[in-house]
Amino acid sequence: MAARAKKTLTPVDQLTKAQAKVELTRLSLEISANDERYYQKDAPTITDAAYDELRRRYNAIEARFPELHTQDSLSLKVGAAPSGKFKKVRHAVPMLSLDNAFADKDVEDFAARIRRFLRLDENEQIAFSAEPKIDGLSMSLRYETGELVTAATRGDGAEGEDVTANIRTLEDVPKKLKGRHVPPVCEVRGEVYMTKAAFLALNERQKAAGDTIFANPRNSAAGSLRQKDPAITASRPLGFFAYAWGEMSEMPADTQSGMIKWFEHCGFTTNPLTKICHSVDELLAFHHKIETQRSHLDYDIDGVVYKVDRIDWQDRLGFVSRTPRWAIAHKFPAERATTVLRDIEIQVGRTGALTPVGKLEPVGVGGVIVQNVTLHNEDYIKGVGNKGEELREGRDIRIGDTVIIQRAGDVIPQVVDVVIDKRPKSARPYHFPKTCPCPLHTEIVREETATGEEGSRARCTGEFACPFQKIQHLMLFVSRRAFDIEGFGEKQIEYFFDQGWVKEPADIFTLEERNGRLKLEEIEGYGATSVRNLFAAINERREIGLDRFIYALGIRHVGETTALQLARGYGSWASFHEACLKIARDDEQAMAEMDEIDQIGDTVVKAVAAYFGESHNRGIVERLTKHVKIRDAEKPKQNTAVAGKTVVFTGSLEKFTRDEAKAQAARLGAKTAGSVSKKTDYVVAGPGAGSKLAEAQKLGVKVLTEDEWLALVGGG
Ligand code: IVH
Repeated sequence: MAARAKKTLTPVDQLTKAQAKVELTRLSLEISANDERYYQKDAPTITDAAYDELRRRYNAIEARFPELHTQDSLSLKVGAAPSGKFKKVRHAVPMLSLDNAFADKDVEDFAARIRRFLRLDENEQIAFSAEPKIDGLSMSLRYETGELVTAATRGDGAEGEDVTANIRTLEDVPKKLKGRHVPPVCEVRGEVYMTKAAFLALNERQKAAGDTIFANPRNSAAGSLRQKDPAITASRPLGFFAYAWGEMSEMPADTQSGMIKWFEHCGFTTNPLTKICHSVDELLAFHHKIETQRSHLDYDIDGVVYKVDRIDWQDRLGFVSRTPRWAIAHKFPAERATTVLRDIEIQVGRTGALTPVGKLEPVGVGGVIVQNVTLHNEDYIKGVGNKGEELREGRDIRIGDTVIIQRAGDVIPQVVDVVIDKRPKSARPYHFPKTCPCPLHTEIVREETATGEEGSRARCTGEFACPFQKIQHLMLFVSRRAFDIEGFGEKQIEYFFDQGWVKEPADIFTLEERNGRLKLEEIEGYGATSVRNLFAAINERREIGLDRFIYALGIRHVGETTALQLARGYGSWASFHEACLKIARDDEQAMAEMDEIDQIGDTVVKAVAAYFGESHNRGIVERLTKHVKIRDAEKPKQNTAVAGKTVVFTGSLEKFTRDEAKAQAARLGAKTAGSVSKKTDYVVAGPGAGSKLAEAQKLGVKVLTEDEWLALVGGG
């Protein structure tokens, strides 16, 4: 819960310069990390609205303290550098970003700024091209003598990824430009998107196959485009709207609207809602109209864009840092809808955590039908302890209530308010169950917080005897980051479990030898090929690295990173297993040894003790290890310049990612830490390093640049 609680931030106009500096560093790290998750991994973890808020605060601080503006200011960056999977392409003309307007006043200011800059007379009208802002991925298509030669993503604005082979599979992208007078070099820019219907259908297929579920159409478009195999892109229906240009050896028109017509002549699709407006009032009316149409459109939009129509004026207006003065994006607030809460059900997670899920009267929010909403925990429903959460403070939620839900750029919606006026007399306060809904009906306990108080999360005490938890564990076991068994998704696991064919991980590895009896190929919709593929996928995973194996065991508090630390700490399954069994018998020395491993603490030691203390779990592990070969972890080297040293990486590293840096340090026998102390041997500081760098200087810890670090480790 704590992670979601909002921090109280000092208003920008009350920050001292020193605080502003620290705050800029913090925001810059947070924004960069979110950019990386959004642009490179196609997996954002915060809503678009929350991201915009970070950016807004960053810009406001920079505007108040221009002297803190540096060369690596985020306001000079767009997106994130390419991910390295594809060849890089340098854009002939950089692909820039748009400034955002949220309030009507921002649009008035935008128009007034243009008028002032161009020294226009009051009576002179400015024509604007008003267009929907498509929530997809921007793309630059380069045509030479009319032929498509390169398609590149935006990347960091200067350099993108070469996705030509994939883009060629899109129907909306002409391979050859139509028309007789095509300039020798044309770069057509626009947005690649996936329709909402295609996104929902794709997620259904992904779910059935046990594959990645995309959070929203934008991520599924990005994921579909970043395929190494163009045949996969071809199987995903992607669209493209043309709305801008890069390098042009000749300009075929002198207005934005003229360019859009020319794109259509060439064979492109342009957005049919685009309209010329002549005043701020018309722009605001356009914004309003498109917002009312938003949920009926078959593609996601997150606002509208206004562009000065005359290109000679665009040229005169130019750019401020990385955004044009002649255009602005007028964003929409997160989409909301009102519906009725029909019921509340309890879901049991892998570790037995109980989550109340609100069952809604189905309602469309942003084109996605929403039927479920998370209600977090008992206190949240009662309206206590939801301070700083998304729900209005002090509201309790009852079955039968009319609730306002919000979908903010991702699929998991939230309840933001209860319409008290509409609360029917029959509305029932919800009584959180005292026993788990699993067939064991075990007692529910409320977890303790770190300080020993009663927490808000309820848990089933059935552990691995609870069938719900068994299924959840099997799902974790086959998931991508654990055993990664392709074609084994939620549906298959549930079915196999219900049939009694797979009750625990070891059963997966004996499926093939039992198939003479089971005859999986006779199950409806399965067929001989899928069965063969499933067995092949299982057989490929009979050998596995120690870190993945530990993660796949599903020990509470042992996520991927912890599993990796444990694997590195013990080196082999035999020594890890032996230590775990000793810990389960309260062997103090074994406990202390585990505690000493970098980043492992008391919580993990206790969780290991609880897991291996259960004979049921020991049995599961013993049976499983008969079927798989567990590879030893890579041993850290001992005779290197940094062996035994403690290193802190800070700032936005440019030569390697933070994960790469940590992995390299670990390979060379160094420990990495998250904060600087007297025990730190080196602080490796990239651009934008803030408080950690200051701390290192204060404590006299040696500070290295990325190059100095590389020189020290000899390229690693
Ligand atoms: S014009 C100089 N027009 O929004 C900027 N962008 O934040 C040229 N976008 O990177 C961009 N719909 O991915 C423009 N009708 C539209 C757009 C649009 C979506 C995206 C585009 C761009 C981002 C800017």
